[in-house]
Amino acid sequence: MTQMRTILITGAAKGIGRAVAESFAGEAGNRLVLVDFDHAELQRWVAEAAMPAAVETHAVDIADLAGLQALFTGLASRLGQIDVLVNSAGICNENEPGDLDNWHRVIAVNLHGTFYVTSLCLPLMPRQGRIINMASILGRAGKVRNTAYCASKHGIVGMTKALALDLAPRQITVNAILPAWVDTPMLQQELAAQAGIAGLSTEQSQRNAKKRLPLRRFIEGAEVAAMVRYLASPEAGGVTAQSLIIDGGVGLGM
Ligand SMILES: NC(=O)c1ccc[n+]([C@@H]2O[C@H](COP(=O)([O-])OP(=O)(O)OC[C@H]3O[C@@H](n4cnc5c(N)ncnc54)[C@H](O)[C@@H]3O)[C@@H](O)[C@H]2O)c1
Repeated sequence: MTQMRTILITGAAKGIGRAVAESFAGEAGNRLVLVDFDHAELQRWVAEAAMPAAVETHAVDIADLAGLQALFTGLASRLGQIDVLVNSAGICNENEPGDLDNWHRVIAVNLHGTFYVTSLCLPLMPRQGRIINMASILGRAGKVRNTAYCASKHGIVGMTKALALDLAPRQITVNAILPAWVDTPMLQQELAAQAGIAGLSTEQSQRNAKKRLPLRRFIEGAEVAAMVRYLASPEAGGVTAQSLIIDGGVGLGM
């Protein structure tokens, strides 16, 4: 009998994290540990889904180190090991250069939170473990009113490369996915805000956005989940320290 694989996913209530969880949930050999501070939404979709995998949910803010330490103490004694970590929780608050509140919150969640979860996971990760970090195309590029978000995502890309070297002797791979324009609540909120500023309907704002994309459509969460599944697979054991872009080609066009 093959051993059960334990997969911890942050930000699993919505968007990409949820798509990743749904993808792994189809296999009875998986145990999912799903983390999100929107626990009501996380519990709602888990209760409605028919899933062969064993699933447990936890309400934690990944920026809260003490809360995470309590969670991992429990996981260590009950589960013993975590084979795959998917860091998807993140926020995209815009900030003007002088806006320290949003600077600190975005860095606290996206960068510190991702590092806290990862470092607490490491003692539980066996050889050939997998760490997959959701960065962003803004881990390579800049964007107005986004110093905090861009800094946090560039930071995740750097952290990914360095940690991959630290963990290579244990055959643990660490990779980043750099998405853009994935159809999630985060993107919909951004488009609604842009529509408000431009005096457009959300539908018009969506149509305008799609016209700027080579594929003329948004990326589906399931398409990002498929990349995660590949990176988590035994076949991807030689892929580490990489940044894989999924942006429908927008980053390479003028
Ligand atoms: N949607 C995109 O186009 C896109 C593009 C680039 C990068 N990303 C990145 O992908 C990841 C997922 O994005 P998404 O579009 O699914 O976002 P989303 O807002 O739709 O979902 C994010 C999830 O993370 C949870 N979360 C946020 N902060 C948390 C915290 N402090 N503690 C615990 N849970 C928290 C939210 O409750 C939510 O369930 C993020 O890191 C985001 O920056 C998304």
